[in-house]
Amino acid sequence: MIKEDKELARKIKELKKKRNAIILAHNYQLPEVQDIADFRGDSLELSRIAAKNDAKVIVFCGVYFMAETASILCPDKKVIMPDISSGCPMANMMTAEDLRKLKQKHPQAVAVGYVNTSAEVKAELDYCCTSTNAVAVVSALKDKKEIIFIPDKYLADYVSKKSGRKLISWHGFCPTHVKILPEDLKREKKFHPKAKVMVHPECLSGVVALADAVLSTSQMGKYARENPAKEFIVATEAGLVYRLKQDNPDKEFYPASERAVCPNMKRATQEKVLWALEELKDEVNVPDEIRKKARLAIDRMLAIA
Ligand code: 13P
Ligand code: SF4
Repeated sequence: MIKEDKELARKIKELKKKRNAIILAHNYQLPEVQDIADFRGDSLELSRIAAKNDAKVIVFCGVYFMAETASILCPDKKVIMPDISSGCPMANMMTAEDLRKLKQKHPQAVAVGYVNTSAEVKAELDYCCTSTNAVAVVSALKDKKEIIFIPDKYLADYVSKKSGRKLISWHGFCPTHVKILPEDLKREKKFHPKAKVMVHPECLSGVVALADAVLSTSQMGKYARENPAKEFIVATEAGLVYRLKQDNPDKEFYPASERAVCPNMKRATQEKVLWALEELKDEVNVPDEIRKKARLAIDRMLAIA
């Protein structure tokens, strides 16, 4: 670390203590942010860490829906973001009104939604799910005749294939994960024939079909740690490779595509974290009525998975 960076990191540490704060960083965050985080993790993991921790302030380095989920799970804590304009385009592809209309078209259906949704959309759901447990949640709904699964059409396709259930899906997708093409994986497999292929379920179906394992970001960390293979091709946002390399210095990780970068995940910086701690903003607030309903969908998911 250069001298200025060390000084910044020292100031952040000092202020964090004074504010009784913890810094949470999603696995896709910039290395400089991951380096000062107290915890790193996938989207739901971070909210659960926030809920279990005694800190009064949560500095959430991720995208907006993740900070909102943390706020839903710990309403007594102040959740702040270093850059509140960090949104998730996939989460923004469906509004609560869109979901209400879809539910009206299928009045018998139970509504399952990915955690990558706004709090308002979560409030309309029966069940929430994550990339870790989507198959388990849908598979548990055996007695339900119809299932709405939103907003990601590629995750819906994967879950439908794995669970054997027909799903009523939405046309959402992740603009970053769709940049990874089957040709990218085929090329990397040619270069690294011994490598295991880890794929995030937000990827195109043709990419998922080439996977050795379909996993959430934190599950990829576990798989890489526990698998005896020494090389891995990583089909998700390229930022995860930094963490994988740090945690497994004796193994090699190859991003499936260098183009798979989520610009929203790169907005937070050490400087912005310091400013957020100094001013205790920008705060993420979920109105009580929405929070309670959204919480129900999350709790139902937790009861299954
Ligand atoms: P994870 O929950 O697997 O970290 O995924 C979140 C996300 O936004 C992937 O693009
Ligand atoms: Fe949203 Fe995709 Fe970015 Fe994840 S990688 S936060 S799904 S846009």
